[in-house]
Amino acid sequence: MYNYSLHQHINQSLLKMELDITGKDNLFYTRFMANASALRSLYTDLYGSHQKAEEVFNALINTISQAYINRPDALQKADLIKQQNGIWFLSNDITGMSLYVDRFCGNLANMPAKLDYFKELGVNFLHLMPIFESPQGESDGGYAVSNFRKVDDRFGTLEDLQTLKAKMSAEQMYLMVDIVLNHTSYRHEWAEKAKGGDKNYQDYFYMFDDRSLPDAYEKAMPEIFPEAAPGSFTYVPECNKWVMTVFHNYQWDLNYKNPVVFNAMLDNILFYANLGIDILRIDAPAFIWKEVGTSCQNLPQAHTLLQLIKQCVQIAAPGMALLGEAIVAPKEILKYFGTGLATAKECDFAYNATQMAVQWDALATGDVRVLMAAQEEVLKKPYGTSWITYTRCHDDIGLGYEDYMISDAGFNPYEHRKFLKEYYGGTHPVSPATGALFSVNPKTQDARISGSLASLCGLEKALAANHETAINTAVQKILLMQAVSFFLGGVPMLFYGDELGYTNDYSYLEDPGKSYDNRWMHRPVIDWNKNDQIHIEGSIEQRIFTATQQLIKLRKQLPMIADNKNIHWLNIYNIHVAGYIRALNEKKLFCLYNFSNRASYLTWYALKEHGIPPTVLFDHWSKTTYTVGRDDEYFILAPYSFYLLEQM
Ligand code: GLC
Repeated sequence: MYNYSLHQHINQSLLKMELDITGKDNLFYTRFMANASALRSLYTDLYGSHQKAEEVFNALINTISQAYINRPDALQKADLIKQQNGIWFLSNDITGMSLYVDRFCGNLANMPAKLDYFKELGVNFLHLMPIFESPQGESDGGYAVSNFRKVDDRFGTLEDLQTLKAKMSAEQMYLMVDIVLNHTSYRHEWAEKAKGGDKNYQDYFYMFDDRSLPDAYEKAMPEIFPEAAPGSFTYVPECNKWVMTVFHNYQWDLNYKNPVVFNAMLDNILFYANLGIDILRIDAPAFIWKEVGTSCQNLPQAHTLLQLIKQCVQIAAPGMALLGEAIVAPKEILKYFGTGLATAKECDFAYNATQMAVQWDALATGDVRVLMAAQEEVLKKPYGTSWITYTRCHDDIGLGYEDYMISDAGFNPYEHRKFLKEYYGGTHPVSPATGALFSVNPKTQDARISGSLASLCGLEKALAANHETAINTAVQKILLMQAVSFFLGGVPMLFYGDELGYTNDYSYLEDPGKSYDNRWMHRPVIDWNKNDQIHIEGSIEQRIFTATQQLIKLRKQLPMIADNKNIHWLNIYNIHVAGYIRALNEKKLFCLYNFSNRASYLTWYALKEHGIPPTVLFDHWSKTTYTVGRDDEYFILAPYSFYLLEQM
């Protein structure tokens, strides 16, 4: 909407910064004007009544403009190219991998030499787990940042990162890093100043003189790490105050009610944008706004704040997409794409955490009904946004999907979750999985699951028993899990090591900085001798790597896999098999997944209810052609198998 005084004000600010708004900076100027009203209104919603509101709003205009001024020409060109290609990140061309640089190959300087490995696999998008400075031993895998602009010495230098980025750009690879938005390390300069008694900096955090407000907050706040870090506040002896620490006691929650904090963190976000980051992972966005008496998660103001960030990024660095890492209840995840007038104007990506969890559910039970019950929510994702699809990541697997999804499938939610925890936690007598329970809350019995893809699929036990059939089954399960998420729509994100079947690594138990957190069991240290096995015909590593490579290749070849909101789940008339159609124009791909340890029988009729019935189907996975049979004949799916059937 046109707003004379706001637009004049921005005009004047840009002119003062000597921007050529009718010439070379016109595109930036246009973006600013197009977004100005939304920007102002979101800002006013959050900060309108703050005494520093106007002062910080002016500072914000400068932060955005300065970031644009600093944006290298090459990135501005890349921004343009991305925008000219529709919505670049919906493409079926992108496949990612998430990795810890030090555990993968030592440091950033060694990364360029590894680009060939990614190329061989087909991965063209890297998520580098946190690499900015973080105190060793109190780092939460880098998610406790003490300096947002300095690469930690353990990983190398900012220059190393820039060199890597340049090499990746030359290879048309995309890059993602995190902005740890919710908190800083207790060793961050702001926290140090707060400890020293500086009131301005104490206001950067939620700090209180006594326990009365912390007690009131804690009444309604669930604990995130109840074993390793119970409670949500920590006493700070240096200044005799209590500070909010939702995660570990060394991670201090930033106070976004203070607009100065917002502006400072936006500056960091735009600093990352100008490093050439293609997708920025916003860590833990569900937690960024707190109100006493609430769970302090998923609050409406958190969404307003993310929308505000989106507006600012779109003005200064339109080529950078945002991923909101909201691992919350299915209904809540969807809201991170924006709602109402802000639909598709908040995060561009979210993790498809619901899908990930229900896949593990289906694998344990051999029954896809919970997975199917969850789809109604998952399908609400608006066009123009996308998922990061995954089976494993550096974190635990939460079973946070809704109870009704379990009871709709005919199970008792409490008993069902108990079974899953035992199945994957390693205590179920017949489970082939090796995992562990993470963050068990004795008060609520809640628990999440740690373990690598391969170990949870049974490879660790099968190898220990040297049991060939069990090994083959585990490999089948690994590929089944990957395949479901590779063809769903969205960008698949592999977790490093899973591409060749790394099992759990228990060495973390010997490191006091890690032993309290069993998520480290599935964060392997790569042994390049083992990785070399990918070239040894018949080795487990080769079998998993080659198959994963093949899945990635198929994704790229099949245009209907791009995330155009073109997924349709099938009613398959068999509780062991999940299936969906991905259609584009005349092209139709039936993707079928058998979660059972036995063969499943599907009547051909199940594939005939969707437009023109197929007569011939070509399976891209096994390269087999099938003639579609009569309605009362069966298509037989082998145990833990999948089919990517194109209608010919
Ligand atoms: C995110 C990260 C997780 C970390 C937490 C706190 O959930 O994925 O690893 O512990 O944020 O920063």
